[in-house]
Amino acid sequence: MKIIFYITFLIIAFSVSGHEVKIEYKTTEEIINARMKKMSLINNLSQKIYKELNLADFDLLKKNTLELKHAATHFKKLFPINSKGGRAKNLIWEKKILFDEYNDNFVSDIDFMLINIDVKDIISLKESFNDMSTNCSSCHKKFKNKKRLN
Ligand code: HEC
Repeated sequence: MKIIFYITFLIIAFSVSGHEVKIEYKTTEEIINARMKKMSLINNLSQKIYKELNLADFDLLKKNTLELKHAATHFKKLFPINSKGGRAKNLIWEKKILFDEYNDNFVSDIDFMLINIDVKDIISLKESFNDMSTNCSSCHKKFKNKKRLN
């Protein structure tokens, strides 16, 4: 009986640690490229959504806003230690908690958009879209370099 507990413990321990170290198998360059690609996607999606606000096609708005939420949620996870570079300022790693807060505010503003989409309120949606957009410049101003450093 004891051995079963022991084996179960080992399996759980391995699967947990295997999950945690997953991102470390990627090289720094791969991580930087992944987050740049994610930001390009965020950029494209926000432009698409901006145009779709005039069409008031709520199915399309929902699809693209959900995709924006997934991209923003994933973006936050692409800053492990030792992935400094690209246009990301070192301040991100020095003030990780603050940077995470900026990301969380971004995601919660996208959530407000989703609420407005669900009740098909285009006027409020235009406002929540504008609120969401202010996150882009405020985060860039604090955490993004104008030029790529390496
Ligand atoms: C929480 C912070 C944060 C928010 C919010 C944010 N960005 Fe960024 N963005 C960054 C950082 C950091 C980089 C640089 C990433 C790197 O080079 O590693 C970046 C890079 C970019 C780039 C350049 C990508 C490239 O290929 O070099 C674009 C375009 C961009 N962001 C657009 C946007 C738009 C549009 C929004 C809002 C809809 C937005 N970002 C919201 C932090 C943010």
